Amino acid sequence: MIKKRVLSGMQASGKLHLGNLVGALENWKKMQDEYECFYFIADWHALSTNYEDTGEIASNRLEIAADWLAAGLDPEKSTIFVQSHIPEHAVLHLFLSMIVPVPWLERNPTYKEKMENIQDKDLATYGFLGYPVLQAADISLYKADYVPVGIDQLPHLELTRELVRRFNGIYRCNVLKEPEGKISEVPKLKGTDGRKMSKSYNNAIFLGEEPASVETKIKGMVTDTKRARRKDPGEPNDCNLFPLHKIYSSEEDIREICKGCRSAEMGCTDCKAMLLKNLLPAMAPIREKRKDFISKPDKINEILVEGSKKARLVAMATLEEVKAAMKIG
Ligand code: TRP
Repeated sequence: MIKKRVLSGMQASGKLHLGNLVGALENWKKMQDEYECFYFIADWHALSTNYEDTGEIASNRLEIAADWLAAGLDPEKSTIFVQSHIPEHAVLHLFLSMIVPVPWLERNPTYKEKMENIQDKDLATYGFLGYPVLQAADISLYKADYVPVGIDQLPHLELTRELVRRFNGIYRCNVLKEPEGKISEVPKLKGTDGRKMSKSYNNAIFLGEEPASVETKIKGMVTDTKRARRKDPGEPNDCNLFPLHKIYSSEEDIREICKGCRSAEMGCTDCKAMLLKNLLPAMAPIREKRKDFISKPDKINEILVEGSKKARLVAMATLEEVKAAMKIG
């Protein structure tokens, strides 16, 4: 039986954290057994916001690859590659840019939101507006059936689908494939300050982080703000720690926490200690594997080069079909 194809990518903008692990990587790892998976590092996408400051993109690429491999993405099972190793992404991006109506890009909510939130950079560039066109090229080159992404990426996926229909319509062909998004059903992890865990909010716990540092962060975490004093009862569902417990603690521990918190028998300090008892051992194997990979950058690069070779064959074949459909040989 032919396996369905999965493709996803992450922008090369820094080390990965627990939110990335439970929100994406765990899911990607599981998919490896059921699907033909392509996972790539979107280093050109990182240029859309960092075009003036490109110094860290190459090292981020290595850090992300180490995170992926440590988390269990397996180059024997999946094709793991780098966007910039495959020039076909740029070529298909160019072709799609010719047919994408600019208003489709301007009304994209992710675009509008980022435009408003990122004030310290000049994002009035073509590349930033065209970010989802490059993403549509990434997906279409591999004729992906499924694209596992977070909810924030759904507008990009919808645009990809519309663009695929438009391409096939204009060139009267069936060359490109409409992908389907796959949202993973995990609770969004909160960062140490209670906002969504994100590198740019400075509130994240990283996969490679040492236990002492994880401990400091957890101990400093904002809990249920209604529990101003030790004797005030709290509500786990209003606590930033609780999503972490739901992932890392046993049912028994969770029951104890819920009871203790709601009755004020247990304080936040004990609850945090319990989380650390469960979280630290779970993080250890990934951290150790990560350390090992990071100490062997040549090995990581070899994996990425090999993966890119495999991926490129698929990309080249699709691009030939695209050119034939467009009659520009
Ligand atoms: N935009 C995605 C993100 O920020 C990264 C990405 C680039 C991607 N190209 C993709 C994801 C193609 C899925 C498919 O996370």
